[in-house]
Amino acid sequence: MSEPIQIAVVGSGYVGLVAAVCFAEIGHQVVCVDNDQGKVAALESGDVLIHEKHLPELLKRYHNNGIRFTTDLHEAAGGSEAIFIAVGTPQSETGDADLSYVEAVACEIARSLTSYKVIVEKSTVPVYTNEWIGRAIERNGVARRLFDVVSNPEFLREGTAVEDFLHPDRIVVGADSEAAATLLAAIYAPLTSGAYYSRPQAISGCCSASQPPPLLNTSTKSAEIIKHASNAFLALKISFINAVSNLCEATDANIEQVARGIGLDRRIGPRFLRPGIGYGGSCFPKDVAAFRSVAEQLGIDFNLLTEIEKINAQQKKRFLAKVRSALWTLRGKRIGVLGLAFKGETDDIRESPAIDLVQMLLAEGCSVAAYDPAAMERSQQALPASAQLRYVEDAYAAARDADALLVLTDWAEFAALDLKRLAGALRYPIVVDGRNLFDPRLMQEHGFTYISVGRPAVYPAREVELAAAGTV
Ligand code: UDX
Ligand code: UDX
Repeated sequence: MSEPIQIAVVGSGYVGLVAAVCFAEIGHQVVCVDNDQGKVAALESGDVLIHEKHLPELLKRYHNNGIRFTTDLHEAAGGSEAIFIAVGTPQSETGDADLSYVEAVACEIARSLTSYKVIVEKSTVPVYTNEWIGRAIERNGVARRLFDVVSNPEFLREGTAVEDFLHPDRIVVGADSEAAATLLAAIYAPLTSGAYYSRPQAISGCCSASQPPPLLNTSTKSAEIIKHASNAFLALKISFINAVSNLCEATDANIEQVARGIGLDRRIGPRFLRPGIGYGGSCFPKDVAAFRSVAEQLGIDFNLLTEIEKINAQQKKRFLAKVRSALWTLRGKRIGVLGLAFKGETDDIRESPAIDLVQMLLAEGCSVAAYDPAAMERSQQALPASAQLRYVEDAYAAARDADALLVLTDWAEFAALDLKRLAGALRYPIVVDGRNLFDPRLMQEHGFTYISVGRPAVYPAREVELAAAGTV
């Protein structure tokens, strides 16, 4: 592998920590900086903090042997050739990205610049942020020749972040200077040359020595737009399929068949066509809003983005309406909830539609027993347990004596539940599935009333017979 490069990663959240560990995995020397002392202390003591496949073993392998943690940005930046900024860019009240953390970090980096460094924006930021970072550093008295600012957006998904980082569809490097582009190319060379994939211990995925990922060089502004446009397009795909699933429900068609029929067209592709209860997470909601805000500020009519958000919000309300129509009234009903994370295989509850739905159910006067394989602790912090809300130890406990069971997160663990045991635990065998985890025919065979998304509802065979005889 090529020469190790000294890298600082500022921000050890979902993106920063994964990037830092993966840079160590491809042979670089990394220092990970965070201004949260508790987080740094936890990482120092070997606590991984987030639920992410491969992260514990990689962190263990490289701790103090490729990666170290500190709160001292000045020291970390001073000793590095490239400084990646991966602090959060939350949504402000107006929908804009709040860039105050990025600005604070840029100003602090400026105080450490005595020799040439490349500053890399890894956080998702609106177009022109690159220029603002440059200006902020210059305003702090640093000569332009001492630094370049590069945009290198990250496309990793939570839950599969390590694999996504090491096996990307593409690496985008937005650089307006050759020196900076060359350094970034060297950092990613173990991936783009294919060398990493020949290593015996390499994390496996879709790239290989013969099919390494491409590196796309662009201008800084193009790279910034690529990130926002990619997330907005994926959100569009989800809202589109959710709208089509509503059409399927109104016509007794089946969204699984429709999505397959659409997705087999190679121009469309099969991925991100799973209907559900709307997208959530730390990226799509905030990035669609930020992209809309960028368009507004530039005087560009991009109402499509508003429609994506509208459909997404409606999808949660539609799901609640399904629960209501299955149970007739909601006040006083006991509801079992499976899943609190914004999607399966993660402990993240940021902008989770599952959490929103639990809040809606509580507001309707239901009592809720909720279970999630990894997101219980975070959920309890955001939504403390109360007389109306209990957190329980497993899926069967959530189902116990409930008037209905709701599936809100697509955990693989839920798809493998023992249906007989589940039916036995429920007071009434009613499942409203917001993630289409179960086969409707199998649910019917197990005696469930089963309502899912974009597929005809099924009822227990006995109820169907009675309905045909006109008894119910
Ligand atoms: C990332 C990206 O940075 C964001 O732009 C993208 O859209 C989503 O993913 P994420 O890693 O999920 O954010 O954020 P978070 O988990 O909040 O981590 C940010 C880290 O930066 C935190 O550990 C925080 O303590 C740290 N931080 C924040 C600093 O070290 N310095 C600051 O000034 C602010
Ligand atoms: C996303 C992008 O995929 C990633 O490229 C970017 O770097 C960060 O944002 P992430 O938020 O981790 O990643 O999750 P993702 O798997 O994209 O799912 C986002 C949301 O969309 C989840 O709530 C998920 O349940 C939902 N979703 C996804 C659907 O409802 N249907 C789908 O077909 C796919």
